[in-house]
Amino acid sequence: IASHLLAYFFTELNHDQGQKIDKYLYHMRLSDETLQEVSERFRKEMEKGLGADTNPTASVKMLPSFVRSTPDGTENGDFLALDLGGTNFRVLRVKVSDNGLRKVEMENQIYAIPEDLMRGSGVQLFDHIAECLANFMEKLNMKDKKLPLGFTFSFPCHQTKLDESILVTWTKGFKSSGVEGKDVVAMIRKAIKKRGDFDIDLVAVVNDTVGTMMTCGYDDHNCEVGLIVGTGTNACYMEEMRHIDLVEGDEGRMCINMEWGAFGDDGVLNDIRTEFDREIDMGSLNPGKQLFEKMISGMYMGELVRLILVKMAKEELLFSGRLTPSLLTTGHFETGYVSAIEKEKEGLQKAHEILTKLGLDPSAEDCIATQHICQIVSTRSANLCGATLAAVLRRIKENKGVDRLRSTVGVDGSVYKKHPHFARRLQKTVRKLLPDCDIRFVRSEDGSGKGAAMVTAVAYRLAAQHKA
Ligand code: GLC
Repeated sequence: IASHLLAYFFTELNHDQGQKIDKYLYHMRLSDETLQEVSERFRKEMEKGLGADTNPTASVKMLPSFVRSTPDGTENGDFLALDLGGTNFRVLRVKVSDNGLRKVEMENQIYAIPEDLMRGSGVQLFDHIAECLANFMEKLNMKDKKLPLGFTFSFPCHQTKLDESILVTWTKGFKSSGVEGKDVVAMIRKAIKKRGDFDIDLVAVVNDTVGTMMTCGYDDHNCEVGLIVGTGTNACYMEEMRHIDLVEGDEGRMCINMEWGAFGDDGVLNDIRTEFDREIDMGSLNPGKQLFEKMISGMYMGELVRLILVKMAKEELLFSGRLTPSLLTTGHFETGYVSAIEKEKEGLQKAHEILTKLGLDPSAEDCIATQHICQIVSTRSANLCGATLAAVLRRIKENKGVDRLRSTVGVDGSVYKKHPHFARRLQKTVRKLLPDCDIRFVRSEDGSGKGAAMVTAVAYRLAAQHKA
């Protein structure tokens, strides 16, 4: 009986705490109608970004990637890849072979990018990248080979061809000087030339979303969307050439890197942004920019929870009104904590551990409340992603003129992969907004790494076909 009573007590407590927090965070809980509305707004933004006249003032830039075809499985060869812009900087060697097994093999090495390099001079940053590349090639004994290289550079870039990529603006944690407005391909080539101890053939620069779509596309030819929910968030999809004003030609399709993280930068989401979103933005490296991303991605999710905890503690709604220096420090509530606290079984225990680590002495109510706050923040994130993704899929459906769309979305990113409920919630939102579509979600196996090699491999195959 005792345990029965206790269980009852906790359920009741849970219920009461839940209602209290729900009320407090009312503006963070988005109704189906609001999500529909967000989806509708994003659809208009996509059109604005694609149109020649409207693109200059569009916040969602819809950048052409010059990737025109997804892999057909016959690609093969030995490739190098660089991956910059996610959680880690990596160098990879990828072997693609068309031996029927469609096997992709790879070796990779993570290198640190010290924070002062992320915010220092661009020349130093690219010198460092070249040095890591040299180290990797040395280790694999291939410094004398001139291998084709694909570069996953996960930032908004203007491209006019595969191997030219002009950085529009840094996002996430980067802010190296003298790179915005410059061609990053030229900067890498220059850094390598300056060293003079090895050579590579830089074939393609791709966004991580594009890389993700390409790796999934190797196994599933229906894959025409790539989605990232990690440090940042963004998506790409295959658009009809006839709708892309910025690129000549009307035949076939091209992958568009949407840069949806910038959705809302013109104010269109101001009615759903909260005081916490504004606070995050003001304290960021790029105020006023990437406003949608700041409501969603891993770089900001933990911090959003922290700001809510601080405010509620100040109002004596949590921790008996106590604050600690640790809880008051930016970045101390990691996004990984949100995932841990939302775990089905051990979540409340984790909440207790984490809050204690932050110097607090949490009660059972505090732990339940913190878990509930995490749920609200991460659910909003998944719902918002679902709303924009639904707009993209709806557009693909209309482009194809089919009654029912069957399509695959390739996904990568730490939030999508590590959060215990994110993927399910995102998929639920998409299905609710798109009852007339059958959407498959495929986790990409290291899309941003292999993806660049895939794009390079496809470019090689196509070049060979042209010659033949
Ligand atoms: C940021 C970048 C974008 C990238 C995304 C996910 O939004 O601007 O290019 O795809 O993060 O890494």
